[in-house]
Amino acid sequence: MRSFVLPILGAVGILAATPVMAQQAPIVIKFSHVVATETPKGKGAEKFKELAEARTGGKVKVEVYPNSQLYKDKEELEALQLGAVQMLAPSLAKFGPLGVKEFEVFDLPYIFPNKESLTKVTQGPLGQGLLKKLEPKGIIGLAYWDNGFKIMSANRPLKTPEDFKGLKMRIQSSKVLEAQFRALGALPQVMAFSEVYQAMQTGVVDGSENTPSNMYTQKHHEVQKNITLSDHGYIGYAVIVNKKFWEGLPADVRTALDGAMKDATTYANQIAQKENDDAVTAMKAAGKSEFHTMTDAERAAWRKAMLPVHDDMASRVGKDLIQAFYKETGVAGN
Ligand code: LMR
Repeated sequence: MRSFVLPILGAVGILAATPVMAQQAPIVIKFSHVVATETPKGKGAEKFKELAEARTGGKVKVEVYPNSQLYKDKEELEALQLGAVQMLAPSLAKFGPLGVKEFEVFDLPYIFPNKESLTKVTQGPLGQGLLKKLEPKGIIGLAYWDNGFKIMSANRPLKTPEDFKGLKMRIQSSKVLEAQFRALGALPQVMAFSEVYQAMQTGVVDGSENTPSNMYTQKHHEVQKNITLSDHGYIGYAVIVNKKFWEGLPADVRTALDGAMKDATTYANQIAQKENDDAVTAMKAAGKSEFHTMTDAERAAWRKAMLPVHDDMASRVGKDLIQAFYKETGVAGN
């Protein structure tokens, strides 16, 4: 009896197990970033997760890790290259230290007169050509995501270029940003984004530049007495993936993910301006810092002080590239 029952049970076991075994484990995309979820980039990442998972019918799982939970600025790029995470959206400033210095063109003060000219660059051949430069680093650039124009904060009013003299200003790791603050007579300090709040609180730095949404979600306004609405430069992102991982995906999955990224990009770029406007409103309402709206004369003085950075950085970033940006944006640097 036993000799009959066991093979039958065994066969039933195999049959029962078959559907389970046929179900493949989902492909996991770890998407790491350094900002809060309630920012243009944070919301864009969540939107991509939602669309990617729905459109691949569960074949792909996107795990989003915000707030430098996994890696800080520089480490996250190394992690992507090693394949420890699959997707990131670093600010464009952060590709310089990787050896793709051309991206620092986006850090030049006053390089974009407005959002429209920026979109012309990122959506046109110039922007796409820059993304291609990442491929030899084992990285594929999928899209540009907007944040917005930067404002300045410190513990003293920043109205004229002279007000920056001697201030320790936190910067992202970019030679262009370093040159920008030197042009103002300030002392630039490279620091990871996640460390800025504490550095402000303890006086390690006196101030910084960032977008309103980044300042607000990091609570910088609680430890900075003065904020100037300067819009003197830009912060945006390239959404990137590990090349080997991306090219190894089944074609149908990659097509679905490309579509999800396209739509997440439209969404992220649509909400960016409002997120930043809302952040200014919220920081003003919090009443901890004094806001300064610049006069035309003050703007002109800042511009005059910072524009020489375009020429000074031409040998690093590329003279032709800067000229191509001028042509596309319709703005001459000086
Ligand atoms: C910063 O480091 O200041 C920002 O680029 C952070 C970010 O990703 O927006």
